[in-house]
Amino acid sequence: MKLHCSAANPKAVKADMIAVLVPSDEALFAKHKAALCTMFPAASAALASGDFTGKANTSVMVYTDAKAPTPRLLIVGLGEMAKLDLEVVRRAAANAAKAASSKKLAHVAVVVPEISSLATEQLAEALTEGIMLAAYKFVKYYSGNDKNDKNNKSNDAPKGNTVTTLTLVAAEKTNKTTLASLKSGAEYARLVSQAVIVARNLANAPNNEIYPESLAAEAQTLAKSSGFKLTVLDKKKIAALKMHGLLGVNQGSTRPPVFLVMEYMNGATNAKPIVLVGKGVTFDTGGISIKPSAGMAEMKADMHGAATVIATMYAVAKLGLRLNLIGLVPSTDNMPSGSAIVPGDIITYSNGTSVEVDNTDAEGRLILADALLYAQRYKPQAVIDLATLTGACVVALGHVASGLMGTDDALKARLRSSADYTHEYVCELPLYAEYDELLKSDVADIKNVGGRWAGAITAAMFLKRFVGDMPWAHLDIAGTAMLSSDAPYAPKGGSGVGVRLLCDALRKWE
Ligand code: BES
Ligand code: ZN
Ligand code: MN
Repeated sequence: MKLHCSAANPKAVKADMIAVLVPSDEALFAKHKAALCTMFPAASAALASGDFTGKANTSVMVYTDAKAPTPRLLIVGLGEMAKLDLEVVRRAAANAAKAASSKKLAHVAVVVPEISSLATEQLAEALTEGIMLAAYKFVKYYSGNDKNDKNNKSNDAPKGNTVTTLTLVAAEKTNKTTLASLKSGAEYARLVSQAVIVARNLANAPNNEIYPESLAAEAQTLAKSSGFKLTVLDKKKIAALKMHGLLGVNQGSTRPPVFLVMEYMNGATNAKPIVLVGKGVTFDTGGISIKPSAGMAEMKADMHGAATVIATMYAVAKLGLRLNLIGLVPSTDNMPSGSAIVPGDIITYSNGTSVEVDNTDAEGRLILADALLYAQRYKPQAVIDLATLTGACVVALGHVASGLMGTDDALKARLRSSADYTHEYVCELPLYAEYDELLKSDVADIKNVGGRWAGAITAAMFLKRFVGDMPWAHLDIAGTAMLSSDAPYAPKGGSGVGVRLLCDALRKWE
C-alpha cells in the first residue's frame, strides 16, 4: 500500500473515493453536515434525507459532479463522541475500505477526523490499520486471478484487494509537527499491517503449499527483505539437539521437520533478549488420535503461532526497533501412518522430563516443549509463546479473546495493556498448582493431556514444566487466529492475530 499524508481542503483532493468520518451527536452532526454540503453540494440530498445520522457502522455513498477531483464521497458514521475510541476509528476506516474494494477502487483518501481525545499519531495508526486490514482478501487460488494465465477468461472470480493507495487528509491549517505525527503513526501502522497480512497469507495457505520446509523458505525471504537473521535447523540438527517432542510428532510424516531460529539483535549488546515462540504445525490431522473429518481443513492454519512470530520478526526489523529479539518456530505436520507416534509412547526431553503421549492430537505442547527448552540458552528477559493450542480455549473465550497464561505478572501486564490498545483482546486463565495433578501419569513424569476439564489450562501447565526460571507468558490463540466468520477488519480464516499486539508491546518495552 502506498501512503500519503497531506494537509489539504478535501474538495481539492484527487482520489477514487474520499471518506469523511462524521459523529452522530446532534450539534456536531449538524456542523459537519453544513460543512460537507458547502464542500460537496452533491451531498445535500443524501444528508437532507435524514437516512444517515452518523451512527457507528453506517455510511452513505455520494457521487460528486463529474468536474470534482474525487468522483465519490463516502460519509461514514463515527457514532457518539463519548463512545469514540481507536477501535471505533478502525472500524469506520474499515467501512470505507470495504466500500472502495467492492467498487474495485485503487486510491482512497480519508479525511482525518478532529477528535481531541485521541493523539494524532494514534488516530493515524487506527485509520491506516482499518483501511489496510479490511481491504485484505485471500483470493490467490481462484483461477480468474492468475495474471500469468492468458487463456483464463474467467472474470467472476472474487477479486483481491484493489486498494493500493491511501491518502490521509489533515485539515488545511495543520502545522508541521502535527503532520509529522500523522505521518509517523500512519507509517508505523502501514508496516505492522503489512506484517499482519504476511501472517494471514501464511496461515491461509493450504498444507500442500506451506509445510515445514516451505515455511522455512518463506521465513528466509522475509528475513532477507527486512533484516533479521534466520537459521534453519534440519532434522539431523533437531535429532542432535534431542528435540524428541518435535521428532515424535514428525515420526508419522513423509515431510521432515524444521526448527527455525530467527535473530534480530539491534539492542544494546548486554541487553537480554526477548524470545517469541510460535507453534508451527503446518497441518494437524490429530495423528493416530485422528480428528473427525468435518472441519479438519481448518487445521491448515495450525501454524498461525509460527506465522505470527515470523511476521512480528519481519515487522520489528522493518521498524528498526532497538531491541534484541529471538523468534523460535518448531514446525512439522501431525500425520497418522505406520510410523506415527501412538498413544502410550513415552518420550524423554533433553531436560530429562519423560512424557507419556496419551493423545497424539495434543501435539502442539509436545513441540513447544522443545522450543521452550531451547529458549533457555538465551537467558531471556521474557519468553512469549503463541499457539493454536486447544479447542478448550475456543469454548471458553470464543473468537473474541486469546487465552493468556504465564508466570510473570509484569510480562502479563504488558500484554494485557497492548491487547487493550490494539483490541486484540486477551483474558487470563489461572495456573494454580492444583491443575498440575491432572497431568499425572502412571508410567512417566507426566502425560500430555489433562482430561476433559480446564483443557486450555492443563495445556499451559504442561508447557510450564519446560519454562525453567524464564519469565514466561503463553497466548492460546486457537479461537482468535482462526475466524469462522468475518470480523470488522478481518475476513473469515487466518486473522493475523498477535502481530499488532506484539509489535505494540515491543515498541513500548522500555
Ligand atoms: N490444533 C488443535 C487445537 C485447535 C482446536 C485449534 C480448534 C483451533 C481450533 C490442537 O492441536 C488440538 O488438537 N488440541 C486438542 C487437545 C486435546 C487432545 C487435549 C483439543 O483441543 O481437542
Ligand atoms: Zn494442533
Ligand atoms: Mn492437535
